[in-house]
Amino acid sequence: ARARARAALEQLVVDVPDFPEPGVVFKDITPVLADHTAFTDLVAGLASAGRDADGTVRVDKVIGMEARGFILAAPVALSLGAGFVPVRKAGKLPRATHAVSYSLEYGRATLEMHADAVEAGDRVLLVDDVLATGGTVAATAELVARAGATTVGVAVLMELGFLSGRDVVGDLAITTLLTI
Ligand code: PRP
Repeated sequence: ARARARAALEQLVVDVPDFPEPGVVFKDITPVLADHTAFTDLVAGLASAGRDADGTVRVDKVIGMEARGFILAAPVALSLGAGFVPVRKAGKLPRATHAVSYSLEYGRATLEMHADAVEAGDRVLLVDDVLATGGTVAATAELVARAGATTVGVAVLMELGFLSGRDVVGDLAITTLLTI
């Protein structure tokens, strides 16, 4: 599944120069999502990060980070028989939250998770489309830690290796379907 997922990403992700700002090449994953076979392979490839070598599911919850992480994490959670939890940008969640702020290239951003969304002792898989600087993953892992739960892995479609996000994320196990 992972080899097919990588091939689908190579064929179908569209590079968009200078979006959302000059100098940035945006990775548009929407053509992959629109292809049922490719989307199925992506979800299977990501979900493999939530299983032990013998196929046993090793996670209780799957977290998706707003917004593209939602699209991927929800079907991964269903395929693993785990719960889905959204991590959102500040001010979107209606009840008590844990909040973590982190640095962006310019300024800061805050991510939030409902305080009761994961339980102490839960094993959690983080799912997103892209690992870039690693700030989003590191902040989300901190939210999981605040809840007393454990991040057992991170699964992303693409890792932008030249941004060294792995170094920011620390010793979390990262599954990447395609490294750029
Ligand atoms: C993108 C991407 C990841 C994050 C990766 O999301 O979907 O969540 O950036 O970047 P990092 O590793 O440098 O933190 P974005 O903030 O653009 O949000 P969106 O999906 O809501 O557009």
